[in-house]
Amino acid sequence: KECTIEEQAELLSYDNAFEVEKENITLGKQLGAGAFGRVLLAQVKGLNGKESPTPVAVKMCKFGHDKAHLRALIMELKIMIHLGKHLNIVNLLGAHTSNIDKGELWILVEYCKFGNLLKFIQRGKAQFINQIDPVSSEIDIGRTSPFPIDPLSATSLGCSYRKKSSFCNSSAPPSGGRHYELPPTSPTPRKESSISDSDYDFTYSLFINSDMAAYSKPPSSPASPSTSDCQVEPISSDSENTPGVSAPLTTTDLLCWAWQVANGMEYLTSRKVLHGDLAARNLLLASNNVVKICDFGLSREMNKNYLYIKKSNEMMPMKWMAPEAIEQRIFSIQSDVWSYGVTLWEMFTLGNTPFPGVPLTKLGTALVRGMRLEKPKYCNDQIYSLLLQCWRSNPVERPRFNQIADTLADMLSPNK
Ligand code: ADE
Repeated sequence: KECTIEEQAELLSYDNAFEVEKENITLGKQLGAGAFGRVLLAQVKGLNGKESPTPVAVKMCKFGHDKAHLRALIMELKIMIHLGKHLNIVNLLGAHTSNIDKGELWILVEYCKFGNLLKFIQRGKAQFINQIDPVSSEIDIGRTSPFPIDPLSATSLGCSYRKKSSFCNSSAPPSGGRHYELPPTSPTPRKESSISDSDYDFTYSLFINSDMAAYSKPPSSPASPSTSDCQVEPISSDSENTPGVSAPLTTTDLLCWAWQVANGMEYLTSRKVLHGDLAARNLLLASNNVVKICDFGLSREMNKNYLYIKKSNEMMPMKWMAPEAIEQRIFSIQSDVWSYGVTLWEMFTLGNTPFPGVPLTKLGTALVRGMRLEKPKYCNDQIYSLLLQCWRSNPVERPRFNQIADTLADMLSPNK
C-alpha cells in the first residue's frame, strides 16, 4: 500500500554525521521569522573540522509551537539530508537534534549574506538599469554584468575572478561600477547541475562571472553594535542583511538569477523533490551573485507519480499556485514550474505582488478561464513568452526546468 508523502518523509533517515553540539553554536540576531518558525544568524565552531567559526543560519520553531510544527521541521531536515548539495539551494550544514524530546530542533544552513531576494530587488529598484532596447526589444547583455560562463573557458577567468575577490578585503569598492572582463572567445553559458565536492561553491562561482561581494560593506566600516549575548560578527545595522554599497541591478542580473533558480529546481527535480512554495521571498542572495532556493517548508518528497494531493486545507500560497493546485490540490514539479513563472514575474516587475486586488476566492476560476499576469515592465516578448509557457493550463505542456535553464542560457549568451 502506498504511504502518504508525510509518511514517506518520515521514513527518510537522519544522518548523525550532521549533528553539531550545542556548545559549538553561538546564536546571534534574528534574520527572519514566519508564523511558526524563526531563523537566527549564528557562528559555529568546528564545522567541517574548521577551527575558525562559520556563519550559519539556524532554523528553529518559535517558542510555544505545537507538535505539528516540530514534525514539519523534522521533515524539512530529512528532506534536506535526502536532497544533497547544490549551489543553487540553501544547503544543510548541520543540525542540533539531541534535545528534540524537549521540542528543540535546530537546523543549520548556509548563511546568505544579502538575504531575501525579493527585498533586495525592491531596495535596488530606484537604480535599476533596464537593458532592454525599447525599439528592438533586444537585451543588451553587454560586458558590465554577471552572466554564466562556459566552464571550458572558465580557467582563463579563474585568475581574474580571484583578483576581483580580493576587492572584498579592500576598504573601498572598485570605482567605475561593475565591469567584468570576458575571455577572448565567446563564452556560451551552460547549466552546471550538480557539484558535489566541498569546494563546489567556489568552483561554480567561476562560471558566474560576477562578484557582488566586491560591493559589500568593507569589514572596516561601522556596523551594528553587537549585543552582549551575541558574539556574532555584526553585519549590518538594520534588520535586513543589507550590503553597504551595491552595484545597480540590471536586466542581466534578473536573467542570471532566473537561470540559477531554474538550475536549482532542475536539481530538485532530479532528486524527486518538489518545492511547493517557490516564490521570490523564498530565494536568498549569497555572495558572488549566487541565488539559493530556500524554505523547503512545504517541500515534499514525491511518490513515483510525482504528484502530490494535499488533503488538509492549510494556508497555501495561492497567488503562486497553478490552477490544478488551487482547484484540485494537485502538486507536481509542473506546478512548481507555474510558481517559477510567477517568481520570474516578481523579479521582472522589480518586486510587485501578483494579482493585486484579485480576491483569493476568485483566483482559481479566473485562472481556469484563462486570466494571466500581464507582461512586466522590464520584460521583453521573449521573456514574457517563457512566462506564458510556464502558465499553460495543461501541466505537461509547461516547459521542464532543464529546458527553461537552456532558454535562459541562450538569452544570456552575448552572441546569440
Ligand atoms: N533568512 C532566512 N534564511 C536565511 C539564510 N540562510 N541566510 C540569510 N538570511 C536568511
